[in-house]
Amino acid sequence: MLVSAKEMMQKAEANHYAVGQFNINNLEWTKSILLTAQECNSPVILGVSEGAGKYMCGYKTVVGMVNGMLEELEITVPVALHLDHGTFEGAKACIEAGFSSIMFDGSHYPIEENIEKTTELVKTCNSLGLSIEAEVGAIGGEEDGVVGMGECADPDECKMIADLGVTMLAAGIGNIHGVYPSNWPGLSFETLAAVKEKVGDMPLVLHGGTGIPDDMILKAISLGVAKINVNTECQLVFQAATRKYIEEKKDLRGKGFDPRKLLAPGCDAIKAKVKEKMVLFGSVGKA
Ligand code: 13P
Repeated sequence: MLVSAKEMMQKAEANHYAVGQFNINNLEWTKSILLTAQECNSPVILGVSEGAGKYMCGYKTVVGMVNGMLEELEITVPVALHLDHGTFEGAKACIEAGFSSIMFDGSHYPIEENIEKTTELVKTCNSLGLSIEAEVGAIGGEEDGVVGMGECADPDECKMIADLGVTMLAAGIGNIHGVYPSNWPGLSFETLAAVKEKVGDMPLVLHGGTGIPDDMILKAISLGVAKINVNTECQLVFQAATRKYIEEKKDLRGKGFDPRKLLAPGCDAIKAKVKEKMVLFGSVGKA
């Protein structure tokens, strides 16, 4: 059964480790991540962007697929199904479809509007026992070939949003989605410490987990980060493993297409990557 991320976040924050959010795009990725979480006896959060939700037919299909897997793969570790960077409407649709957790990303709105919309969603999530993540300070990333440096959140604004009763808070600390540019100055631990000082024991979320050096990840966890999102890194290892398989098996061409064989190396690569992250984040054995 899917669970809210609330309990896993509170335990992680109190015990100084982080739970990984791994984004899913299809059946193979979902199965690989769930099996790895079970093997590692680790809680896990499955992230679904609105685009990935659409690709997988819609939120109801995603909920049906994940619930089916939990039962048929006999997954017993805590699993939250979480909307990643949701719009206001997307968040409502996921709540309706049966997600156990949502993120409302109101970081691009003026703070008053972010507060207003987050407040409404907090009310709904609380009444249904779902967890909710809010965001302050936009996370940078590549858009149309332009890489924006991540913003640093205003600690006072973080406090205002945290006080609305969200479960966890994503605060921009110079982090960026996708691969980091060579001139990236690194995470702003000064901002992270200032945010933590204001929000107390509110679990913090680090987006853009791909490519952040391990020592920075560990420092971020020590300063209150309890959830780390990883997407691009799984895509990259999946792509590389699949490409290698196709290149090595040139005789594949003209011999039909068996997805079970073609996608197996990519799935193994995702499993290895997820395990590596769970070890680094310290969530192994914490289910
Ligand atoms: P990366 O794609 O950089 O790993 O970031 C994932 C993320 O933050 C999803 O919200």
